Amino acid sequence: MERGFILSSQRSRRHPTPGPFLKWVGGKRQILPALLAHRPTEFKAYHEPFAGGGALFFALQRAGLLSTRRNSLTDVNAELVGTYRAIQDDVEIVIKALEQHRYDKKYFYKVRDWEPNDLDPAEQAARMIFLNRAGFNGLYRVNSKGKFNVPFGSYKNPRICDHENLRAVHHALDGIKIPCESFKRITARAKAGDFVYFDPPYVPVSDTANFVSYAKNGFSMADQEELAETFAKLVNKGVFVLLSNSDTQPVRRMYADFRIETVQASRMVNARSDRRGPVTEVMVIGGYEPTPSS
Ligand SMILES: C[S@@+](CC[C@H](N)C(=O)[O-])C[C@H]1O[C@@H](n2cnc3c(N)ncnc32)[C@H](O)[C@@H]1O
Repeated sequence: MERGFILSSQRSRRHPTPGPFLKWVGGKRQILPALLAHRPTEFKAYHEPFAGGGALFFALQRAGLLSTRRNSLTDVNAELVGTYRAIQDDVEIVIKALEQHRYDKKYFYKVRDWEPNDLDPAEQAARMIFLNRAGFNGLYRVNSKGKFNVPFGSYKNPRICDHENLRAVHHALDGIKIPCESFKRITARAKAGDFVYFDPPYVPVSDTANFVSYAKNGFSMADQEELAETFAKLVNKGVFVLLSNSDTQPVRRMYADFRIETVQASRMVNARSDRRGPVTEVMVIGGYEPTPSS
């Protein structure tokens, strides 16, 4: 008994379970059980083209479901991708740089003003993690000049450096391809039998049902249409595809040929407090039958 305990605690110290190291808007922690229940039973490589905080990637890693060396995590946010890469390359120097930061309002604004290009990759990653943990609601927002402009967030004793998780993330990222690229590149990357999870910026939920052709989040309706075409292309190629989006009329129209399941989530960020609360989202499934629940 005792021996078993020692062995398992030693193992967990060496490879503790990894989880998202950033708070990311649209993070999928809440609906993870539903996503996991709707994954393909078996697949070759896993690809997450809108990586963000990578909630499903880490969940699949924890469950021991990622086996090949062809898995990929991609995103168009260069700072985000650089942070993943720095942790993958040498987590100890990222941790060292992160330990220099402290939770203090004046200090936060000083670090926010730093020019990322003057920093080395580990310092850039540490700045990104610090601003994310100490900034308002984990938002990532830049101004027209590309400067991060999220205000300080008031928290009680926030954890800036989670050494154990960062080291676990480092192990989880071993061998993962992490390019900075648009979701469109996935058609070249994914092969038959692979599993792709798309978690794009959502189609906005509108009271009037008049959906504008551009979106504040920088992901337009034309992008949404292109994503739906990419989804269909992948399914035709024999790829297993799962997608999250808002439960809205355009989403249901774009994916009418595929299986659509609804899931309840509560929105973390909404400017209007009366709009916070449970919302329905959809999961679109293409090219496979989900794992039957046991
Ligand atoms: C809803 S978030 C993903 C959240 C993530 N699943 C999680 O668990 O944290 C959407 C992500 O898509 C990225 N993104 C936006 N437009 C993109 C594009 N054209 N191609 C690839 N990624 C894009 C954003 O940078 C953002 O990280």
